[in-house]
Amino acid sequence: MSTPVLKQSPTREHSRILGIGAFRPDVIVSNEDVCQWIESSDEWIRQRTGIITRHRADKGTSVIDMAEAAAREALAGAGIEAAQLGAVLVSTVTHPYATPSAAAELTDRLGATPAPAYDVSAACAGYCYGIAQADALVRSGTAEYVLVVGVEKLSDFIDNTERTISFLLGDGAGAVVVGPSDTPGIGPSVWGSDGGKSGAIGMTHSMLDIRALSLAAEADGGLTPDALSGGPAKLWPTLRQDGQTVFRWAVWEMAKAAQQALDAAGIEASDLAAFVPHQANMRIIDELAKQLKLPDTVVIARDIADAGNTSAASIPLATHRLLKENPELSGKLSLQIGFGAGLVFGAQVVVLP
Ligand SMILES: CC(C)(COP(=O)(O)OP(=O)(O)OC[C@H]1O[C@@H](n2cnc3c(N)ncnc32)[C@H](O)[C@@H]1OP(=O)(O)O)[C@@H](O)C(=O)NCCC(=O)NCCS
Repeated sequence: MSTPVLKQSPTREHSRILGIGAFRPDVIVSNEDVCQWIESSDEWIRQRTGIITRHRADKGTSVIDMAEAAAREALAGAGIEAAQLGAVLVSTVTHPYATPSAAAELTDRLGATPAPAYDVSAACAGYCYGIAQADALVRSGTAEYVLVVGVEKLSDFIDNTERTISFLLGDGAGAVVVGPSDTPGIGPSVWGSDGGKSGAIGMTHSMLDIRALSLAAEADGGLTPDALSGGPAKLWPTLRQDGQTVFRWAVWEMAKAAQQALDAAGIEASDLAAFVPHQANMRIIDELAKQLKLPDTVVIARDIADAGNTSAASIPLATHRLLKENPELSGKLSLQIGFGAGLVFGAQVVVLP
């Protein structure tokens, strides 16, 4: 008896981003607002970070609501129906359930069921991780069209009164549809991690801390009002960072990763039309542009001034704005790089939708 030969999905040569969408929540938090909570000033925040405002979602708006709005615009731009999606990836670290995923619920809301759906936890590199996966899924023949969403409601995980990171953060969503292409549209992904620096950014507590406290209070005869206000509320996980460690890593290591993405794609800095780095700090953006020796012809995304740092949403939001303000960039080359908590990073050269 001959050994049966396994069939494999027919592969495709190229993929590209076909459409993009964004959602920016209505509530605008100014530097003056921030200074009610921390000792700082509008001038300091502008000079040291470039941030002027950040958008935050109201109580009733969830990660999935924001993702849906951005996804619908991306689908319309790509000219495909939700039912044609072969996979839905949601990059986020602020969906409040470890399971079920935000992606499964989003898929159903969009009318894309039974598309495979999963969340990607790669913080500020989440969108670039999503693009790396979508590119691989499309070219391997595993899916024809893939929705990639970067979405965060960071305001649920900040303590407004702390000064290491909260004042930087905003909420929002950006989404793209990746699909087959006749020409190369997504360069090789340069992505990685350095878990040895996991202490540089992260949450103050885990859900287990809250559970332990609740159990202890229960053993003491129930959750008294005191335990409730002083306990679980204090243990709620909020973000912290060692800003200088992250800053140095971003400037030195991420310039190298960005250069590797250019080299892997066979692209010179002067071939680029746009540069969309993670919107973490305007000084990091300037320093990366300097180290990459980007010519003046390259348009640099500076969405951070208005949006703050929106983690996984930052690159698609910034790209969306860039295309709105400079429609002539459509079809041109853009270098994108995301980096953050993990630590993790991801970069690739893409053809703009
Ligand atoms: C957070 C960050 C803006 C702080 O800026 P910085 O220039 O590194 O500030 P430093 O921590 O060196 O502190 C410099 C001074 O500013 C003060 N300072 C720090 N945060 C402040 C704030 N929010 N407002 C006012 N003053 C502040 C410090 O107390 C210090 O004062 P001192 O000189 O009197 O001691 C910056 O480190 C940063 O952007 N880091 C990387 C962020 C990042 O990329 N994070 C996420 C990746 S996803």
